[in-house]
Amino acid sequence: MSGTRLVTSVVDITRLKYDAIVNAANESLLGGGGVDGAIHRAAGPELLEFCRHLGGCPTGAARITPAFQLPSQHIIHTVGPVWQGGVAHEADLLTSCYNVSLTLARENEIKSIAFPAISCGVYGYPHAEAAVVAVETVRASVARSDEIELVHFACFSEPMLELYAALLE
Ligand code: AR6
Repeated sequence: MSGTRLVTSVVDITRLKYDAIVNAANESLLGGGGVDGAIHRAAGPELLEFCRHLGGCPTGAARITPAFQLPSQHIIHTVGPVWQGGVAHEADLLTSCYNVSLTLARENEIKSIAFPAISCGVYGYPHAEAAVVAVETVRASVARSDEIELVHFACFSEPMLELYAALLE
């Protein structure tokens, strides 16, 4: 049985102090709105400077950076799929975001990590379906390896929290 704790709450992810927080970025990795904008603002301009050298990131993949001015240590930037009605491998790509982020976390000896609801803002993924992908993918991953001690699903609204809380019960 996995010893990893999975928790959720309504919280601004930039306030959390963990080994890593995950960013819902775009393929340029050069910032944007939503959680990406909040993370870049809170981390400071050095983050953008660092990201410029990464050369972007494909959808479903992830890159790691320092967290600069944030209380956390690292940022794992992953690029979720844009929802296109479910016919463009969106579920596979979203699953990959969670799996690749956790792999990158283990490779960097990260023990505590927070995820936002990747693709659930501008990218338009239906929230209930995205929450199932998030929780099931993380559960399956930590069942295979419990090196990560804590995974926090950072929700930005009460309705989103209700979805995650029901799945984590
Ligand atoms: N803390 C936690 N969650 C947040 C925060 C925050 N500070 N701010 C927003 N959310 P989105 P996406 C939630 O749009 O759909 C950007 O422009 C938000 O309520 O940030 O993957 C990027 O540059 C929603 O539930 O990401 C990309 O171009 C979730 O985070 C594009 O948006 C994700 O919403 C990515 O779109």
